[in-house]
Amino acid sequence: MDTLPPGPRLPRAVQTLRWIVRPGAFMDEQARRFGDTFTVRLLNSPPMVFLSDPDALREVFTADPELLRAGVANELLEPVLGANSLLLLDGERHLRQRRLMLPSFHGERIAGYARTIDALAVREVASWPLREPLPLLARMQELTLRVIARVVFGVEAGPRDEALRTRLRALLDWSADRRRVVALALASATPLRDRSLGGLRAVLRPVHALLDETVRERRALDPGALAARDDVLSLLVQARDERGRPLSDAELRDELVTLLIAGHETTATAIAWALERLLRHPAALARLREELAARPAGGDWLDAVAKETLRLRPILPIVARYATAPFRLQGRTIPAGTELAPCVYLVHRRPDVYPAPHAFRPERFLERPAGTYTWIPFGGGTRRCLGVSFAMLELKTVLAAVVREAELTPADPAPERVRRHAITWAPEAGATVVVARRRPALSVV
Ligand code: HEM
Repeated sequence: MDTLPPGPRLPRAVQTLRWIVRPGAFMDEQARRFGDTFTVRLLNSPPMVFLSDPDALREVFTADPELLRAGVANELLEPVLGANSLLLLDGERHLRQRRLMLPSFHGERIAGYARTIDALAVREVASWPLREPLPLLARMQELTLRVIARVVFGVEAGPRDEALRTRLRALLDWSADRRRVVALALASATPLRDRSLGGLRAVLRPVHALLDETVRERRALDPGALAARDDVLSLLVQARDERGRPLSDAELRDELVTLLIAGHETTATAIAWALERLLRHPAALARLREELAARPAGGDWLDAVAKETLRLRPILPIVARYATAPFRLQGRTIPAGTELAPCVYLVHRRPDVYPAPHAFRPERFLERPAGTYTWIPFGGGTRRCLGVSFAMLELKTVLAAVVREAELTPADPAPERVRRHAITWAPEAGATVVVARRRPALSVV
C-alpha cells in the first residue's frame, strides 16, 4: 500500500518554522516519537520522509538514479547555480557531466594542491592579530575563497584575483543571507521572489563576466601551455566525454559557480568547527600537536579529528532525493512525488553505531573505519559530493597549518551552539578565538 510513514501532525507552517529555526531539536523530537523513519510536511515542498536507518540509506543511495532524483530536489538553487549545474542535473546529462568532471577531482590529482593550500594557510595565520577576538569562520571563508580562486579557477595573485574575489564575495554574501533563501523557497512567483531575483542578477552578472573571460583565455592557450597547468578549470577545459565532446562554455561557467557555492562555505565551516571542537578538548589538541611535530602534514590522528568533526557537526544535516515513481523501501511503498531525506544528523548520532554519540572522540575512527552508510557528511551513491577528496585535503591541510603556526584559546570557553547559516550549520559565534601566540613570535620565544 502507498502510505507515508507517520510524522508530526502540526500545521505545515509550524513544521516549517521549527525546521528553519531549530532543526536539530525538531529532528531529535521526531526521532524520539517515531523512530528511524518519519514524514515531515513543509510549506511549498513535497512530503519529506526522513531516514536514519543505515539499511534504508543503503537502499536509497544504491537505487536507480532515474527513480530517485537529486537534481529536482535542488531546484531551489537554480537561479544562483545556472541550469547546467551538476547539482541540478539528473539522468544521462548528470552522468555525462559527472564523468567529465570526476577525474579532475580524483584523490591523486588533488594531492598536488596541498603545498599551495598550506602556503596560503600559513600566510593567513601570519596576518592574524594577537590577543583580541578573531572570528575564525570569517577568516576561513576568506582563505577557502583564495584557495578556490587559485586552485580551482587557476587565477594567480594580482588584479584579476582581487576583482574575482571581490565579485565572488558579493555573490556569496547575497546567497548566505538566509532570508533570501527563505524568500526563494516560500515565495514562488511572487513580487518578493522577483525582487530577490533582481538583486541576485546584479551580483551574478559581474561574476559571470569575469568567469567567461577566464574561460575564453584558458581555451585560447595552445595545447602545450594548457596541459602544463594543473588548476581544475584547465583540466575541465581539456576533459572530453566518450564521444570526444568537451564541456560547453555555458556548462563550464555554471560548474565553476557550482564548485564555488558547493565548496567554499562548506569547507570553511568544517575547518572552523574542527578548531572550535579541538580548543575545547585539550587532550585531542595535544595529541594532534605531537603528531604534527613528527609529521608536519599530519597522519591518522588528523584524519580521525577531521572525520569526528564532520560526524558531530555535519555541515549539511540532510541530503534529498525525489521519488519520480513509487519506491519500495524496507517493505513499504513510498508514493511517487515524495522526497526522501537521508538524515546525516540523526545517523551520526545513533548510539548503536557511535557509543556516547554526543562526545567528541576522534579515536572512534581509529578503532573502526567510517562506514559507507553510517558516516555520510558527503552524502552517498552517484550523487556523493564530487569534492570529497578536495574538501578532506583542504580541511586537514589548513587544520595542520593553523595548529602548527598558532596557539589559540577560545574567546568563550563554553561550546558554541549550532546555528543555521543559509543552508549550512555553523558555529553560532563564528568560532571566535584569541590568538595567544603565533609565528614568528613562537620561534622567538
Ligand atoms: C566539508 C566540505 C563539504 C561538505 C560537507 C560537502 C557536502 C556535500 C553533500 C552532502 C553533497 C550532496 C551529496 C548527496 O546528495 O548525496 C555534496 C554535493 C556536491 N559537492 Fe560537496 N561538500 C563539501 C565540499 C565540497 C567541495 C570542496 C567541492 C568542490 C570543490 C564540492 C562540490 C560538490 C558538488 C559538485 C556536488 C554535487 C555532486 C552531484 O550532484 O553529482 N563540495 N557535497
